[in-house]
Amino acid sequence: MNTAHPTRPPPKAKAGEVLLSVQALAVAYGGIRAIKKVELEVKRGEIVAMIGANGAGKTTTLKTIMRLCPIAEGKVVYDGRDLADVVTEDVVDAGLSLVPEGRAIFPNLTVRENLELGAWNHRNANAIAETEADVVALFPRLGERMKQEGGTLSGGEQQMLAIGRAMMARPSMLLLDEPSLGIAPRLVADIFEAIARIADTGTTILLVEQNTRLALKYSQRAYVLRTGEIAMSGPSAELAQNDEIKAAYLGG
Ligand SMILES: Nc1ncnc2c1ncn2[C@@H]1O[C@H](COP(=O)(O)OP(=O)(O)OP(=O)(O)O)[C@@H](O)[C@H]1O
Ligand SMILES: [Mg+2]
Repeated sequence: MNTAHPTRPPPKAKAGEVLLSVQALAVAYGGIRAIKKVELEVKRGEIVAMIGANGAGKTTTLKTIMRLCPIAEGKVVYDGRDLADVVTEDVVDAGLSLVPEGRAIFPNLTVRENLELGAWNHRNANAIAETEADVVALFPRLGERMKQEGGTLSGGEQQMLAIGRAMMARPSMLLLDEPSLGIAPRLVADIFEAIARIADTGTTILLVEQNTRLALKYSQRAYVLRTGEIAMSGPSAELAQNDEIKAAYLGG
C-alpha cells in the first residue's frame, strides 16, 4: 500500500526513531482516575501491543492519544509535536488514525460510503480512489461488497471495513482497539495478517488486544496495563515466556 501522503510534509521521525511518546499520562472521568501514569513509546515502523484486563484503561489511552479524552496530567507527543492543544481533526491530519473498539461503522451506509467517510481529510478524488484501491487489495472481501450496507456485513467484515476506513485517512500510525473482539476465529487470522501487511508497508501500529496470544505473536514489543498503570513491558517474545504473563493472560 502506498501510504505516502500527497500534501502532508515528510515525517520528521525516521525508521527507529520515536514516533509516539506517552509521558506520565493521567486521565479522569468525572474525578475518577481511569489511567494514572501511563508511559509508552512507539518507534516508527514498530508494531507495539498493549494488553490488559477489562477496565485497565486501554481504550482510554487510545482515545486520549487521539485527543478524544481530556488529559489530566502528562503528555502525548506525536512526531515531535505535543498534542496537548491539538483537536482530533488535526491529530488525524498529523497522521494518526484510530480503529475504535466495537468498530462503529455506519450500518445504513454502503461499504463504499463508509470508506469514503474515512477520507474526509482529503479532497483529491484521484488520491481517494487510489487509497480505496489499496484498501480493497488489502481486504478483497470488501471489494466484492462495495454496494452492500455496512450493517449487513458479518462481524469480521465489519472489522475489515473499520480498518479500511481508518486507512482511508492515509495514516502514518494506526491505533487499533481490540480488532479480534467478537469475530469468528477463521476471520481473526485474516485480520491479523492484514494488520501485518499494513505494517509491512511502513505504517506504525499500536495494537490494543485482549487476545494476549495474538497480540504477542504479531507485535515486536508490548506493554501490560494494569489498573491504569504500566505493570510490565518488553519484547513480545520475552513476555510470552514470562510466568506471570502466562498465568494471568495466557491461561497458565
Ligand atoms: N465515559 C466514561 N465515563 C466514566 N468512566 C469511564 C468512561 N469510560 C471508561 N471509564 C472507566 O475507565 C476505566 C478504563 O476503561 P477503558 O474503557 O479505558 O478500559 P479498557 O482497558 O479498554 O477495558 P476493556 O478491555 O473492557 O475494553 C474503567 O474503569 C471504566 O469504567
Ligand atoms: Mg477497551
